[in-house]
Amino acid sequence: MIVGLPKEIKNNENRVALTPGGVAELVKHGHTVYVQATAGEGSGFTDAEYTSAGGTILPTIEEVYNIAEMIVKVKEPIESEYKLVKPNQLLFTYFHFASHKPLTEAMVASKAICLAYETVEKKDRSLPLLVPMSEVAGRMAIQKGANYLEKPLGGRGILLGGVAGVNPAKVLVLGGGIVGTEAAKMAAGLGADVTIMDISLPRLRYLSDILPANVKTVMSTTYNIREAAKNADLIIGAVLIPGAKAPALITREMLKDLKPGAVLVDVAVDQGGCIETCKPTTHENPTFVIDGVIHYCVANMPGAVPYTSTLALTNATLPYVVKLANKGWGDACREDEELRKGLNVINGQIVYKSVADAFNMSYSPVENHL
Ligand SMILES: NC(=O)c1ccc[n+]([C@@H]2O[C@H](COP(=O)([O-])OP(=O)(O)OC[C@H]3O[C@@H](n4cnc5c(N)ncnc54)[C@H](O)[C@@H]3O)[C@@H](O)[C@H]2O)c1
Repeated sequence: MIVGLPKEIKNNENRVALTPGGVAELVKHGHTVYVQATAGEGSGFTDAEYTSAGGTILPTIEEVYNIAEMIVKVKEPIESEYKLVKPNQLLFTYFHFASHKPLTEAMVASKAICLAYETVEKKDRSLPLLVPMSEVAGRMAIQKGANYLEKPLGGRGILLGGVAGVNPAKVLVLGGGIVGTEAAKMAAGLGADVTIMDISLPRLRYLSDILPANVKTVMSTTYNIREAAKNADLIIGAVLIPGAKAPALITREMLKDLKPGAVLVDVAVDQGGCIETCKPTTHENPTFVIDGVIHYCVANMPGAVPYTSTLALTNATLPYVVKLANKGWGDACREDEELRKGLNVINGQIVYKSVADAFNMSYSPVENHL
């Protein structure tokens, strides 16, 4: 198969979807890989490394899209890329369709095959291609939150861990999945007073077993969230309902009861956010303030640590990329239920129900297309 590796062009996105090692693996299986010039630069990989791994460098993004049967990317195509996508071309990347109607409409119109990293799902319902980036974002959320709590950046001027004789900061983590657990671990490690909420009692039981004593587990209800939010210095939004828009757990109306200079980090912003007032921001301009509360809502947080993120992501994606290249998307998805769950759009039809439901668009079950 002819595989194309374009350079990411979303604001401040420095990750790349294949390392030179990944290219070598595809070449070993008999595939041809075209790499856009400088695609790996932001993650520390040179064109020369891709060439010696067996890849061929092409100067422009247009040439890569034009020649490739499969495009492997990190982030969803941005508007300037929509016109480059071809009918029957396989795109394997993060899409997060449910929070982005113009993207959904553009991919439907393109008649391409869109296999979304975020909905590839294992039998135990875990999401293997979200896990590595969630680990990064969860850990980073606390670094960022701690930073913005500092007075010069507009925060309350509180140190997460406090010091002897001074209370630590209160951190509220909404959602006890991968992001939430990593955030709670980091905050606890820095000595904060942490509360983590989830709607799953088995998950809360597990978290209460594995997390240190300065993390309390609490059932996620509107009442409990409202009470905990009033006292929190830092709130991390980390809920996920797979393929659907995140529920607004911290509402606009609750903000007036929050502490002035409190910080909200809505990691779930890529699924619409679980803090009602969150709007996607970028690493260039990451925060805004509403009612004296700092909002940090960067939709591609792992993009700021591309070295760690690229290696973590490609460790997880490469086996699927190789399978898709070896068998073609049809056979690969017929055989592999995990990959089949990743299919979101096929030849102009939405085949993932919650994406169709999010925009009241028509839905066609994936089985009709395999
Ligand atoms: N901004 C970024 O750069 C970035 C990076 C990685 C992941 N994310 C996003 O972070 C979010 C969380 O990802 P994850 O991997 O931790 O997902 P996950 O599935 O591991 O965890 C989500 C958790 O939310 C819980 N949940 C659902 N509804 C809830 C509610 N009403 N109250 C409390 N908890 C609730 C679920 O029970 C689950 O435990 C996703 O939207 C993901 O796309 C964003």
